[in-house]
Amino acid sequence: MSFEQCEIGFIGGGNMAEALFGGLVAAGRDPVTVLVSEPNDDRRGTIAARHGVIVTADNRDVAANCETVVIAVKPQVMAGALEPVSDELAARRPLLVSVAAGITLDSLDRFSGGGCPIVRAMPNTPALVGRGATALVANDTATPAQRARAEEILAAVGITTWLEKESLIDVVTALSGSGPAYFFLIMDALCRAAERRGLDGETARLLCTQTALGAATLAMASEDSLERLRLNVTSPGGTTEQGVNALKAAGLERALDDAIGAAEGRSRELSKPS
Ligand SMILES: NC(=O)c1ccc[n+]([C@@H]2O[C@H](COP(=O)([O-])OP(=O)(O)OC[C@H]3O[C@@H](n4cnc5c(N)ncnc54)[C@H](OP(=O)(O)O)[C@@H]3O)[C@@H](O)[C@H]2O)c1
Repeated sequence: MSFEQCEIGFIGGGNMAEALFGGLVAAGRDPVTVLVSEPNDDRRGTIAARHGVIVTADNRDVAANCETVVIAVKPQVMAGALEPVSDELAARRPLLVSVAAGITLDSLDRFSGGGCPIVRAMPNTPALVGRGATALVANDTATPAQRARAEEILAAVGITTWLEKESLIDVVTALSGSGPAYFFLIMDALCRAAERRGLDGETARLLCTQTALGAATLAMASEDSLERLRLNVTSPGGTTEQGVNALKAAGLERALDDAIGAAEGRSRELSKPS
């Protein structure tokens, strides 16, 4: 089979890859220009049927044909996926885009044989529903046009922003990478508190999740600081003020600072070359 028409290739066809190529196809990209390399037979059948993309079991087909290679395997199999095709990558030097947590630009350069333009992306799970938040950082080899190509792929599943230096990716991992779990924890605790006071679980969840969505939507639409937005809905002597005071007295701000620090530290540890 010829793969000549394939422009964007994926190494690994799991959840994050499917969100990305699904987003690109939904945005109008011709699915036959997308090649996905995936070892699992059933999974290949599923993604080909769902999206019309071209599939292969051989990572070399992607390395040998695509201008852009998105690497969407688990961090622990990254070296095993890239090193066997590094001869092809080093000879052709396609744009590599990695979404793997904790794998540095230097490691990616080493695994891919050296010399490729590389963009490292840190997306988060809401990308799976088109509401991702992705930070990007590029190596010096990547041109502005290649950076724009990488950004277009991640923009198919949410908002994107560029980082000036790679070390900031550990803070991003702690903030938006791990962030969905913090919000789930907070929403769960709020719902339980409401249930303990008599509200049924279904109603509590509906009101709480819509409130989170509404607060986030208001914050995204406004140029006011987050503090100003909070003050706008906190009348002196009212109910919100009492609730906010209780959160502050219980140390919420300190707890969240600790959470970011702990997650950032762990991200840095995981990024150290083994
Ligand atoms: N999911 C998220 O929300 C999210 C968020 C941020 C970053 N990421 C990053 O995205 C990457 C993928 O995560 P995911 O959640 O999509 O994982 P996933 O669903 O497990 O997808 C990984 C896919 O790669 C395949 N694979 C394994 N070894 C391979 C190889 N040597 N060559 C080609 N394909 C291979 C796997 O096949 P088998 O199942 O047959 O092994 C699987 O289909 C990870 O590095 C993760 O850090 C994900």
